[in-house]
Amino acid sequence: MNGVEKPSDYPSRSTTLLRKLQNTSQSQHVPRNKATVPLSILVIGAGLGGLATAVALARRGHAVTVLEQAAMLGEVGAGIQIPPNSARLLLSWGIGPFFEGRVVEPESMTFRRWENGNAIGYTKLGSNFRETYGAPYFVIHRADFHHALCSLASQVGVKILTNSKVVEYDEHFPSVKTQDGREYAADLVVAADGVKSVARPVVMGGVDKPPIKTGFAAYRAVVNTDEMKADPDTAWLLEKPGINIWIGEDRHVMTYSIAGGKSFNMVLSHVDHTDPSTWNPEDAVKDMREHFETWDPKLRKVIHLVTKTIKWPLLSGARLSTWVSASQKLIIIGDAAHAMVPYMSQGAAMAVEDGAALAEALSIIRTKERVPNALRVFEKERMNRSYGMQSASLVNGKLWHFPDGTEQQARDCGMRAEVEGRSFVESTNQWSDPVTQLWTYGYDAEEELRQAWSSEMGLTNGQSKRI
Ligand SMILES: Cc1cc2nc3c(=O)[nH]c(=O)nc-3n(C[C@H](O)[C@H](O)[C@H](O)COP(=O)(O)OP(=O)(O)OC[C@H]3O[C@@H](n4cnc5c(N)ncnc54)[C@H](O)[C@@H]3O)c2cc1C
Ligand SMILES: *[C@@H]1O[C@H](CO)[C@@H](O)[C@H](O)[C@H]1NC(C)=O
Repeated sequence: MNGVEKPSDYPSRSTTLLRKLQNTSQSQHVPRNKATVPLSILVIGAGLGGLATAVALARRGHAVTVLEQAAMLGEVGAGIQIPPNSARLLLSWGIGPFFEGRVVEPESMTFRRWENGNAIGYTKLGSNFRETYGAPYFVIHRADFHHALCSLASQVGVKILTNSKVVEYDEHFPSVKTQDGREYAADLVVAADGVKSVARPVVMGGVDKPPIKTGFAAYRAVVNTDEMKADPDTAWLLEKPGINIWIGEDRHVMTYSIAGGKSFNMVLSHVDHTDPSTWNPEDAVKDMREHFETWDPKLRKVIHLVTKTIKWPLLSGARLSTWVSASQKLIIIGDAAHAMVPYMSQGAAMAVEDGAALAEALSIIRTKERVPNALRVFEKERMNRSYGMQSASLVNGKLWHFPDGTEQQARDCGMRAEVEGRSFVESTNQWSDPVTQLWTYGYDAEEELRQAWSSEMGLTNGQSKRI
């Protein structure tokens, strides 16, 4: 990529979807097998990752109970992107009806210059992505996404218990204890308890490796679209559903409309090395405006419509040596295992893929004694995928934040082809770069797991001869 070093683990391999598309004319969803060994499974945490995993497991025939610490089910924050690698799985699980009227399908992603909003990069999403990757690229309000997953979970028989904060794990039984003294046992415990995971140190043999501060922070905000429509300087952003991102020195602003077009979502990122405990919520709106004072006047008008915002530190998970406890009966997934900065818009998508891959792994095995094998294959494949995505996300943190100068010019030059309708073989826009695009959106978590299982079994057979 021009202007920026690729990390050594940067994706370069071909993907399953491509293989599939080459084998069959269309990627059709065959209903997947039920598990031969139905297990009782506890999922800790009813975030997007925990719920998606609960759905994936329950529809294979496992008995799934989710324990959530909060008194009420829900999601904080505003919008979230559901890229095709995640949408494909969710739709195949039957989420379609619960998404109706809630999702927006942006036509495109446009990169804009910080000072005037001029287009410097462009990716056509919409029908292009739907045809190439077998699923749409959606954006949605987080609350709507969460609600849809809850509805689907109850449809497939998942039990969700709120007011259930897990304070203790017994990885051997395995069982968990809640703050109010209840105990739950199962065959397998799947902890999807987020960045501050209580399960992670247990899995890591008593020593936690918490996510690392990245020096990035983000304001999250929504704007009422009626106010935006009243001013031609801002109304154009709503004319066609699209993702627009302004990029400049140390900062960027990602925007799109959500709630079926009724509200406008913004994530405003900046470099910030200060301690989050010193951040004063009362200053957030004022500070946010100051960060973008010299930026595109049209963007500033939208920012001025924001009356409420919260600043979030952005973390990236440390690379863990394992996600599976020594007993092989407790595992971590989602942000607990692989938090990432949101610059590929893939954090929750990775958790959805985790759920799909775990359900696939546990449905391949024929006996309960094979569960540890399934978990190992799962872990290896998912570490590769999600830690690769972590790296790709950090790449955007560099690429988007160059000060004006030679690197910025090389970057803009490297992503301008589509704005000018030229063909290209490589792009500094990771939504468009052919290798990155295929790796990101063409990945089929269920199929990849089956492939990983086959090659792993080849190995295991070789070894078992020696036993
Ligand atoms: C600004 C921003 C923008 C983003 N944009 C995108 C995007 O566009 N697309 C995308 O795919 N991802 C995006 N992400 C990432 C995404 O939000 C996360 O990766 C995802 O929400 C993680 O889900 P999770 O279920 O693993 O964890 P969480 O959402 O943190 O859920 C953990 C759950 O566990 C519960 N819990 C915790 N501890 C306990 C306990 N001890 N007992 C019981 N329950 C417990 C919590 O209450 C919570 O409900 C973004 C993130 C940020 C910060
Ligand atoms: C994933 O696997 C590929 C191929 O084996 C390797 O090149 C790459 O470095 C791995 N990525 C990570 C993040 O481990």
